[in-house]
Amino acid sequence: MAKKRFFSVNEVEDENLNPELDCNHSNNTPFQDIVERRLSRRDVLRGSLGAAVGGILAGGTAQAIGFANPLLLKSLDPFFRVTASLGFEAIPTNRTDDVTVPVGYRTQNFVPWGTPLTGNLPEFDALDASNSGEDQENQVGSHHDGLHFFPIDLRSGGQSSDEGLLVMNHEYVDPFLMHTNGPTVSDEGVRTELDEVRKEVAAHGVSVIHVRKNFTNNDWEVVTGSRYNRRITGSTHMELEGPVRGDDKTKTLYSPEGIATRGTLNNCANGVTPWGTYLTCEENWAGYFVNDDEQPREQSRYGVSTSARHRRYGWHTRDEDVYARFNATPSADSAEGDYRNEPNTYGWIVEIDPFNPDSTPKKHTALGRFGHEGVVFAPLAVGRPVVCYMGDDARFEYIYRFVSKRNFTPGNLDSSILDEGTLYVAKFNDDGSGEWITLEFGSNGLTPENGFASQADILLNTRTAADFVGATPMDRPEWGAVNPIGGDVYFTLTNNTRRTEDDTNGPNPRGPNPYGHIIRWSPPLGRHWLDTFEWNIFMLSGDPADAAAGVDLDDSNLHASPDGIWFDYRGVLWIQTDMSGSQLLEGPFGNNQMLAANPVTGEMRRFFVGPRGQEVTGVVTTPDGCTMFVNIQHPGEQGEPLDGELYPSHFPDGFPNRPRSSTVVITRDDGGVIGA
Ligand code: FEO
Ligand code: CA
Ligand code: CA
Repeated sequence: MAKKRFFSVNEVEDENLNPELDCNHSNNTPFQDIVERRLSRRDVLRGSLGAAVGGILAGGTAQAIGFANPLLLKSLDPFFRVTASLGFEAIPTNRTDDVTVPVGYRTQNFVPWGTPLTGNLPEFDALDASNSGEDQENQVGSHHDGLHFFPIDLRSGGQSSDEGLLVMNHEYVDPFLMHTNGPTVSDEGVRTELDEVRKEVAAHGVSVIHVRKNFTNNDWEVVTGSRYNRRITGSTHMELEGPVRGDDKTKTLYSPEGIATRGTLNNCANGVTPWGTYLTCEENWAGYFVNDDEQPREQSRYGVSTSARHRRYGWHTRDEDVYARFNATPSADSAEGDYRNEPNTYGWIVEIDPFNPDSTPKKHTALGRFGHEGVVFAPLAVGRPVVCYMGDDARFEYIYRFVSKRNFTPGNLDSSILDEGTLYVAKFNDDGSGEWITLEFGSNGLTPENGFASQADILLNTRTAADFVGATPMDRPEWGAVNPIGGDVYFTLTNNTRRTEDDTNGPNPRGPNPYGHIIRWSPPLGRHWLDTFEWNIFMLSGDPADAAAGVDLDDSNLHASPDGIWFDYRGVLWIQTDMSGSQLLEGPFGNNQMLAANPVTGEMRRFFVGPRGQEVTGVVTTPDGCTMFVNIQHPGEQGEPLDGELYPSHFPDGFPNRPRSSTVVITRDDGGVIGA
């Protein structure tokens, strides 16, 4: 008998159970200020490609190679073969309930949701998910997403590929799988079982997992009892840093000074700082809050809910302070007496030092507040600012850049470099050029006369400021990646079914755009701190007839809705898909998958297919490139159970167990470099 599915507290009209919210009601039709916009779609693509290719190729300056990620030092080693060539046979699409890799590769399912990690190491009940909230606080979280492998000896200059800290995001939860009989909700919508809420909050956040290779069987294992093992959850104490710290609009009952908050939520993609810490990005956080009063723009522009429209978990219906804070409806005389400002402490990028288990996570407000998908750093250059790029994943939202005030010199890199600098938003011109527009108080009309009171006000209202300066609305900017060879920047634009033919443009050339595409850009001579760039479209996903950009699609690489991307240390671009609904269940694409691409030749092959009803998201290798970690999120969340089965997927434990998010470790039978 098929199990009943419970959507009562997470009811969605959308097919995706973690819906991004449409909140851009600005009139920024793309390129509204460009007169000549009547180019045909193909002409736009060809023209922009031709215009931008020179810049892309010119980006490969010697000083640009290397230090963006400490691990990239490996690519400077003359004995480490830096070539993006692909050495495996493409695998076909499929809809099996397992992972598939090319001949010559093996997989190991690793650290799934519920893996004992800290405390008394509570065992997970894979059949009924009967574990308590306290258990969950000591187990790996759910809905694995962005991840990174930090070599255990990184801080002493080492690059171990056998032992390290695997750090990963846990984006959200499926209450119908998380509790034995689904969530308990009263007729009035109240979460009547306190421990269920505790468990859901605890399954969010980040896991720091000390892992190592077991040379007797070549499997990877958790280093049980390690001091590094750590859970950061939706209620962990965190500090606000940067211009918004101490602002009146972050003052709450928990932090009357406006300097702290609890938790990080909906952590989607990630980033790695040049000084070797982990960044986790708060994406669809707005839906966790309600405010039944008239909402200020720093809530309404982001889609904070009302009680009547609430589509998430109903945590705000509890009276305990740690959960009641999700109700931002004013109830006291002042902000210091309630949680009207609690949503303002979300929407940031959060830094975690995985090597210091006692460290307090920091929310870096200078990087802006939006639906942060991920963050990726440009290659470092001595004597120049540190630069990173970020996407806001919702329909018609923007791509951003941060440029530090302080210049990089060897030895001066630390967390504080993210707290002083300038935030910019991207404007893509149809001719293949682009510019970064400053979101700085006093510039570009961001003044009190126009409703922007301070830099903190601009950062709290990043989307509104970007609307005001005329940024280019994009087709859902997801992950970004920087090519270690040359420093070109790639961003996925996963899809946008609401773009119409009338508002297509160069960087978003299809309307509607159900399949998504990948855009890339290059600054002049690889100088990422300069305010112009040249762009082109690397790939149009989905329809082979549209693939007029750099990549041709055929049976070996057909896919849709690109989401996760990452450059490995050889310069191979790994592309992961997040299809949902009918595209996933009935389309020609099979289950969500991962492909490998050579960005120079446009060669691309399908390397990996995941199990049923999941998305493939998050990828990293060890520094030697010989072990790859890939995350499988929400297996079985979509689709129907097969005959005789209980869930649409039983990955990774098999029937009759519940499906659960999991990492997959990929190695080669001959121990070689993955993908080579
Ligand atoms: Fe969490 Fe934009 O994917
Ligand atoms: Ca994503
Ligand atoms: Ca996605």
